[in-house]
Amino acid sequence: MLKGAATTMVHAALLILSSLVAGTLQFQLKHHNNEELLQVLQDVNSRCPNITRIYTLTETSVLGTPLYLIEFSTKPGHHEIMKPEFKYIANMHGNEVLGRELMLKLADFLCEQYMSGNSNIQSLIEKTRIHLMPTMNPDGWQLATDTGGKDYLIGRTNNNSVDLNRNFPNLNRIMYSNEENHLDHNNHLLAQLTRLKEPLQPETKAVIRLIMQIPFVLSANLHGGDLVANYPYDESRTGSQKDEYSGTPDDETFKHLALAYSTHHSDMANPTRRGCGDVDSNRFGKQGGITNGAKWYSLAGGMQDFNYLSSNDFEITLELGCDKYPPTKVLQQEWDRNKEALLNYMWQSHIGVKGIVYDNVAKRGIANAVIHVKNITNGKYQDIQHDVVSVHDGDYFRLLTPGKYKITAYKDGYLPHSRIVTVTNPAHSSAQRVDFALKPISVPPYVRIQSNSYADLDFDDKYGDLQEAWTNWINLNREPIAVQ
Ligand SMILES: *[C@@H]1O[C@H](CO)[C@@H](O)[C@H](O)[C@H]1NC(C)=O
Ligand SMILES: *[C@@H]1O[C@H](CO)[C@@H](O)[C@H](O)[C@H]1NC(C)=O
Ligand SMILES: *[C@@H]1O[C@H](CO)[C@@H](O)[C@H](O)[C@H]1NC(C)=O
Ligand SMILES: [Zn+2]
Repeated sequence: MLKGAATTMVHAALLILSSLVAGTLQFQLKHHNNEELLQVLQDVNSRCPNITRIYTLTETSVLGTPLYLIEFSTKPGHHEIMKPEFKYIANMHGNEVLGRELMLKLADFLCEQYMSGNSNIQSLIEKTRIHLMPTMNPDGWQLATDTGGKDYLIGRTNNNSVDLNRNFPNLNRIMYSNEENHLDHNNHLLAQLTRLKEPLQPETKAVIRLIMQIPFVLSANLHGGDLVANYPYDESRTGSQKDEYSGTPDDETFKHLALAYSTHHSDMANPTRRGCGDVDSNRFGKQGGITNGAKWYSLAGGMQDFNYLSSNDFEITLELGCDKYPPTKVLQQEWDRNKEALLNYMWQSHIGVKGIVYDNVAKRGIANAVIHVKNITNGKYQDIQHDVVSVHDGDYFRLLTPGKYKITAYKDGYLPHSRIVTVTNPAHSSAQRVDFALKPISVPPYVRIQSNSYADLDFDDKYGDLQEAWTNWINLNREPIAVQ
């Protein structure tokens, strides 16, 4: 017995020693507190220094905890031309904790698999810049944990008692009013915002700045309390509380994105599984594990709709399970249930088309060109009334489902250029490349060109400008202009 115990102790000591030599401790699936969370990220960063970077957002939580992200990229810290940017944000509701642990495990997994030569993971990281934010609400997590993690609500909000998923500027109302007035303007709407319902919380400001700064293409917001992939819009068009399907112009693409998660989860899309709540709550399984947000229940000021209406980003909301604070012993099983879905969803950053919009005389990229799409699959020219804009070096990304499209690039001062494209989306490959060479039009200097809705901006670089305007707006208006 004694000898056995001694051997075990020596063995354990050797294990610790060998992991210290390697500079790492074995990653464990458990509930990591706010200090351990950082240690996990640092450990990943020390094992994978050339493909990761840890960074903090501009604000801390209300109680002063830094908000950390880890990035995976072949050039950490930089947007690379034509490489799509992806993000996962978890634990926005502090008592919904599974996503937080899945993010830590995912970071560990990506690093380990990249280094050990998993070609699928290497290819994903070579083609995509991935940002993981394990917690947006560390204060709520602490409170939920200190009180036993059993309550449906305790720890949900930040420390000012504000629900962060109701605290984003409401761009839906601007967009719905544009719709009523037959204005087709439905994207990059922050410039039209004049008032807020309530002051922005530091956690919300931090994430808004992130969204303005990095040209994300795709993201998901990880929650708990049900099992479903929820897609925009979350806020209903008429204001009705529930049961009102409120789709976006990209409804087909969003359904595809939600299914890309649900059908790769081991149970989300299972039609015979039990629901989380009342008798008919198993309807999500019967719907392929997906739902339109407002069809479920309407929610204003959420992060999902904000991403879509303020930036180029497409975001869905993942409800990862009935239990908001699952016990440690099921975390391994939860990782197994979600792993393929988490990976498959990240690959969706590569659907549709991407390319560069450039000046065909000066031969340089054009930032903030507008990319407009018509769906011509059925021989009709159907406008998809949601434009994306090109970023820093003229590169753009347009997520699309398979079909035939007429895509046009517009920029003030240039002739528009259209191309007909057939999208097929082969698995695990980069988006099809479609470039646009724009020809400058020479006009007398006193003529103002009004070729598109962005023409009245005097700035060259609209994306950068919006970002700067908004950073300034948030800085100057510690209290918002008007709180309704
Ligand atoms: C990172 O380092 C690993 C191991 O040295 C190497 O195999 C890999 O090619 C490097 N990747 C990049 C993007 O530098
Ligand atoms: C804020 O944090 C303090 C200190 O941890 C805690 O006692 C209090 O309950 C928290 N309040 C809210 C609303 O979360
Ligand atoms: C375009 O139309 C086709 C045929 O209806 C459809 O399958 C496809 O999903 C549509 N694309 C988008 C992006 O809505
Ligand atoms: Zn939630």
